[in-house]
Amino acid sequence: MPIMLHAALLLFLTLHRLRLAAAAVDQFTFDGFAGANLTLDGTAAVTADGFLRLTNGTTLLKGHAFYPSPLRFRRDAASGGGARSFSAAFVFGIASEYADLSSPGLAFVVAKSKDFSAALQSQYMGLANAANNGNATNHFLAVELDTIVNAEFGDMSNNHVGINVNGLVSRVADNAGYYEDGTGAFRNMSLLNRTAEQVWVDFDARASLVNVTMAPLELPKPRKPLLSTAVNLSAIIEGEEAFVGFSSSTGVVSSRHYVLAWSFKMDGPAPPLNISKLPALPVAIPKPDPSKTLKIVLPIASAAFVLALAIAVLVIRRRWHKYAELKEDWEATFGPHRFSYKDLFHATRGFCDERLLGIGGFGRVYRGVLPVSGVEVAVKKVSHESRQGMKEFVAEVVTIGQLRHRNLVQLLGYCRRQGELLLVYDYMPNGSLDKFLHHRNSLILNWGQRFRIIKGVACSVLYLHEDWEQVVLHRDIKASNVLLDAEMNARLGDFGLARLYDHGTDPHTTHVVGTMGYLAPEVGHTGRASKASDVFAFGVFMLEVACGRRPVVQDEHGDHYLLVDWVAEQWRRGTVVDTVDPRLRGDFAVEEASLVLKLSLLCSHPLPGARPGIRQITQFLDGSAPLPELSEAHLGFNLQDLMRRNQVLNPHSSPSTVAGNISDVPAAR
Ligand SMILES: Nc1ncnc2c1ncn2[C@@H]1O[C@H](COP(=O)(O)OP(=O)(O)OP(=O)(O)O)[C@@H](O)[C@H]1O
Ligand SMILES: *[C@@H]1O[C@H](CO)[C@@H](O)[C@H](O)[C@H]1NC(C)=O
Ligand SMILES: *[C@@H]1O[C@H](CO)[C@@H](O)[C@H](O)[C@H]1NC(C)=O
Ligand SMILES: *[C@@H]1O[C@H](CO)[C@@H](O)[C@H](O)[C@H]1NC(C)=O
Ligand SMILES: *[C@@H]1O[C@H](CO)[C@@H](O)[C@H](O)[C@H]1NC(C)=O
Ligand SMILES: *[C@@H]1O[C@H](CO)[C@@H](O)[C@H](O)[C@H]1NC(C)=O
Ligand SMILES: *[C@@H]1O[C@H](CO)[C@@H](O)[C@H](O)[C@H]1NC(C)=O
Ligand SMILES: *[C@@H]1O[C@H](CO)[C@@H](O)[C@H](O)[C@H]1NC(C)=O
Ligand SMILES: *[C@@H]1O[C@H](CO)[C@@H](O)[C@H](O)[C@H]1NC(C)=O
Repeated sequence: MPIMLHAALLLFLTLHRLRLAAAAVDQFTFDGFAGANLTLDGTAAVTADGFLRLTNGTTLLKGHAFYPSPLRFRRDAASGGGARSFSAAFVFGIASEYADLSSPGLAFVVAKSKDFSAALQSQYMGLANAANNGNATNHFLAVELDTIVNAEFGDMSNNHVGINVNGLVSRVADNAGYYEDGTGAFRNMSLLNRTAEQVWVDFDARASLVNVTMAPLELPKPRKPLLSTAVNLSAIIEGEEAFVGFSSSTGVVSSRHYVLAWSFKMDGPAPPLNISKLPALPVAIPKPDPSKTLKIVLPIASAAFVLALAIAVLVIRRRWHKYAELKEDWEATFGPHRFSYKDLFHATRGFCDERLLGIGGFGRVYRGVLPVSGVEVAVKKVSHESRQGMKEFVAEVVTIGQLRHRNLVQLLGYCRRQGELLLVYDYMPNGSLDKFLHHRNSLILNWGQRFRIIKGVACSVLYLHEDWEQVVLHRDIKASNVLLDAEMNARLGDFGLARLYDHGTDPHTTHVVGTMGYLAPEVGHTGRASKASDVFAFGVFMLEVACGRRPVVQDEHGDHYLLVDWVAEQWRRGTVVDTVDPRLRGDFAVEEASLVLKLSLLCSHPLPGARPGIRQITQFLDGSAPLPELSEAHLGFNLQDLMRRNQVLNPHSSPSTVAGNISDVPAAR
C-alpha cells in the first residue's frame, strides 16, 4: 500500500508539474499575423493582410507588440535557478520614404514589463528615454536593427545590428550581413533594401551567450552568427517571467516597420517559418494623404519660404544699405562723373583707418585704388545733411570736373549718399604743402622748390579766374589746400568746395567760408567772395611759403599778430628779406624772395581795388612785368587793426579754423 501511495503521490506531483508547465507558453509560431492575439500599443497594429506593422508612416511616434502572456525565462529563481535557453526567428521589412534614409529601426525585445510608455520615439526606438537609458531598472534585452547613426549611442553605421542591454548603447554591433556557410565570407545586407529579411536570436543558457544571425529570406540560417556576446539574462529580467516582442519608432522620416512572421521556443531552436506563406512586403510606401500633405507640408513649406524670403530681404537690405546711394533724376546727365559707392567702398577697403590720409575741415580723406582701372585716388567724404543746394553743388562739381590744369588736383567725380557726399580726386603722393612748411620733422623745401610752387599755384588761380570759360572762385586758397604730386609740382585742390557751405545748411548760423588769416577783410564785412579775395588769400599763401610761418603768428608774449602786418613792418624797416624762412639758412635768391614778399604785401592789401589781378601777378612772378615801386603810404596799414574793427579776426581763434562761424558779422552772406 505504501508503495501504491507513493506511486500515486508521484503521479500527482508529476501531473501537477505538467499542469504548471502547460500554464506558461513555451513556444509559438506566427506565419503571418492574421488574427494573432498580441498586446499592441502606439502605432503598432496587425493589418488586414496579415502584417504586424509596428509603425505606420507617421513621424515621431513609437509602437510595441508583445506576445500577450509572459514566458518563463527562469526556473526556480528563488533558489538561484538560472535562465533558460531560448530561440526566436522572425522576418522583418522596413519601407522608408527614401531609399537610403529612414527612421531609427526596430528591435526584438525580451523585457520584464510590456510597459514602455515612458520610452521615447526616434533614436530611443521606443525602448528608453534620456534619463533611464542604460539603467539596470529597465530590465530588457534587445536586438536592434538600426538604420540611423546616433553618435550619442556610439552607432557604427546607418545599417547595423546590435545587442543591447537596458539601453540604446550596444554591447556588440556589426553592419547588417551574414557569413556565407561554404566560404565563411561576409555578405553585406541592407536593412533599408525594402526586402523582407530573416533574423535569429538564440540564447544559450549554459554559455550565457546570445547569438544573432541574419540572412536574406531565401537562404537557410547561416552557421556562423553575425553577433555573439555573453549576457546574464537572469540579472536582466530579474524574476522568472518576462515578455517577448518588438519595439519600433519613427524619427523625422516617414517609414513603416513590419514584422511578417515570428516563431519562438524555450529550450530549443525556434520553429522554422514557412516562408512561402508570407505576404509580400508592401514595398512602396503609400503616398501620404494629399490633404494631409497640404495640411502639414504646405504650412511648413510656406513658413520656410517666408522665412527664407525675409532672410533674403534682410541680407539684400543690409547689402543695399551698405552700398546705398542717393540718386535723383537730375543726376542722369552727370552719369559719367558719378562713381558707385560700392566701388569707392572697395577702393578704400571700406574706408578703413589705414587708408585715411587726413581729416580736413570738410571731412575725412581716404586713399583708394579703383577696382578694374587700378587708378590711385583720394576720396573725400563730406558730410552734408541737407539736400538743399545739392543739385547746384553737384552741377558745380561736375563743372569743376571739367577743369583741367597741371596745377589743379583733378576732380574725377562724385558719389552721393544719405547725408554724405563723396568726392573723388587724383591721388597726390606727396600730400599737402602745409606739412612741408610747418611740420617739424618734414623735409625742408629749398627756395627753388618754393618759388616753383608759388608760380604753379599762381598759374592754377589764373586758370580758374581768367582762362576758363567761366570764372571759378577758389574761396579757400591756403597751404593746406596745395598738394604736391610725385614730381613735387604744386596742385591746388579743394576748389569750389567752399560753395557747399556757401549754400548753407542751417539758416540760423552764418558761415563765413575761408580760413582765418587768409580771409580778406571785405569778405568778413560783406561775406562775398571775389577774385580780389582769392588774390588776398594767395598773397597770404605766398608769405606762408616764403616765411615758413602760419598766417597768424604768436609772439613770445603770447600776442597774436598777422604775418602780413609783421612782413609789412619789416618792409617799412627795409629788412623784408629777414622774414624769409630761417630754416633756409640764408640760402635763397634774394631778388626772388624780395619780389615774392613785396608782391604778397600788394596782394594782401586791405583795399580790394589796390590788389593786382592774377594775370599781373603771374607776370610779376615770371619777370615779364616789373613790380611797381611800393610807397610807404600804400602799405602804411595795419590789417589787424582794420580787421579788429570789423571784428573779423578773433585773435584767440586758431588760425587754421575753417569756415569761421561768426554770427555777429552783419550781412555776412
Ligand atoms: N588728392 C589728394 N591726394 C593725397 N592726399 C590728399 C588729397 N586730398 C587731401 N589729401 C590729404 O588729406 C588731408 C585733408 O584734406 P582736406 O583738403 O580735407 O583738408 P584740409 O585741406 O587740411 O582742410 P580744408 O578742409 O579746410 O581744405 C590733407 O591734409 C592731405 O594730406
Ligand atoms: C489574448 O491573450 C490574452 C492573454 O493570454 C487573453 O487574456 C485574451 O483573452 C486573448 N484574446 C483573444 C481575443 O484571444
Ligand atoms: C498612425 O498611428 C497614429 C497613432 O495611432 C495615428 O495618430 C496616425 O494617424 C496614424 N497614421 C497613419 C498614416 O495611419
Ligand atoms: C536608475 O533609475 C533609478 C529609478 O528610476 C534611479 O533611482 C537611479 O538613480 C538610476 N540610475 C542611474 C545610474 O541613472
Ligand atoms: C559592407 O558595408 C560596409 C558599410 O556599409 C562597408 O564598409 C563594407 O565595405 C561593405 N562590404 C562589402 C563586402 O560590400
Ligand atoms: C536588396 O534587395 C534585392 C531584391 O529586392 C536583392 O537582390 C539584393 O541582394 C538586396 N541587397 C542587399 C544588400 O541586401
Ligand atoms: C553561438 O555562436 C557561437 C559561435 O560564435 C557558437 O559556438 C555557439 O554554438 C552559438 N550558440 C547558439 C545557441 O547558437
Ligand atoms: C547573473 O546575475 C545574477 C543575479 O544578479 C547573479 O546572481 C549571478 O551571479 C550572475 N551570473 C554571472 C555569471 O555573473
Ligand atoms: C507552408 O505553407 C504552404 C501553404 O500554406 C503549405 O502548403 C506547406 O505545406 C507549408 N510548409 C510547411 C513546411 O509547413
